[in-house]
Amino acid sequence: MNPARGGHGGAARARIAGLGWNLPERRLTNRDLETMVDTTDEWITTRTGIRERRIANNGTTAAQLAAPAAREALAEAGLAPSGLDMIIGATLAPTRTFPSTACDLQQELGAARCAAFDVMAACSGFIYASAVADSFIRTGAANNILVVASEIVSPIINWKDRATCVLFGDGAAAAVYTAGDGSSGLLDSILRSDGSFGDFLTGGGVGERETFAEPRLDPGRFFLQMKGNQTFKVAVKSMAEVAEEILARNGFTMDDVDLIVPHQANIRIIQAVGKALGAPEEKVFVNVDRYGNTSAASIPIALYEARQQGRLTPGKLALLVAFGGGLTWGASLIRW
Ligand SMILES: CC(C)(COP(=O)(O)OP(=O)(O)OC[C@H]1O[C@@H](n2cnc3c(N)ncnc32)[C@H](O)[C@@H]1OP(=O)(O)O)[C@@H](O)C(=O)NCCC(=O)NCCS
Repeated sequence: MNPARGGHGGAARARIAGLGWNLPERRLTNRDLETMVDTTDEWITTRTGIRERRIANNGTTAAQLAAPAAREALAEAGLAPSGLDMIIGATLAPTRTFPSTACDLQQELGAARCAAFDVMAACSGFIYASAVADSFIRTGAANNILVVASEIVSPIINWKDRATCVLFGDGAAAAVYTAGDGSSGLLDSILRSDGSFGDFLTGGGVGERETFAEPRLDPGRFFLQMKGNQTFKVAVKSMAEVAEEILARNGFTMDDVDLIVPHQANIRIIQAVGKALGAPEEKVFVNVDRYGNTSAASIPIALYEARQQGRLTPGKLALLVAFGGGLTWGASLIRW
């Protein structure tokens, strides 16, 4: 590792002290979608790798979905909500624009008075929020930070648009970061974005804003919209590049990495990134088949499952890499 870039001289660094997750019970299978739009299980499976996704009950808020995940992560960390210095929410589909999902969750948890705010980096949200948490912890400005990715994407999906409605699912996951001694935890993060590709992936707005002079509302612009093909190409290129960059600047090669945990958008994107990095299949974590694209929640859900499967044990090196609307992308290295 290069101490000038990634090592930071063994100073305090954020380590994951607890993880939690919460997936809605309701499963929406490809067969169910066949009855809703002109699609087939075969098309969805071969083009995306997705077999089913979870859908939250009507009326569930992002904070409500997040709360069990947050409580589980706090319990593992041995921390009461009152011990938190900060809550950082990551969501592409907040229940309302404000207050933030983090503030709503703070209220749910009873974590009064710690700082609470959301970051908006769409599907890259967990990598972004974790990097923010790490920065506060490294400077000593905070010791205990809850990062929560909670996504109820289903209300902004146009369930008549077969090109997008088959891809996404709802879910939440949380990580408690605490100050560690530097022997484990977040080694480094790289965050990137390019707003010039913003219209590749959009959604959730209130249409053309209703101005005083010209009130108008375009419900179509509320829905998630995507230029699938173009997004696919930029996603593969950006994720492979940023993953290579973070390995190189920390003096690692693919051989040092035990597990790649990529954003779970599409099996073909995941496989193409793995191939570009020269990673054997068994080093690339996949669960997109069961949850679809849960946006910012996809990486922490994957971390939770990977650990449950014994694939992240102390000392293992995980390479996280994400991509999302913005466009945003990024990577981080975690020594487990
Ligand atoms: C969306 C995606 C799966 C489409 O796959 P693709 O192989 O690029 O397919 P295309 O968009 O070229 O569409 C091919 C055909 O399938 C059709 N099609 C699209 N969705 C379909 C569906 N659910 N069922 C059946 N046919 C479908 C299209 O209408 C098109 O038909 P046409 O050739 O008659 O026009 C793929 O582009 C993708 O995954 N993109 C990245 C999306 C993503 O992950 N975004 C989030 C990043 S965070």
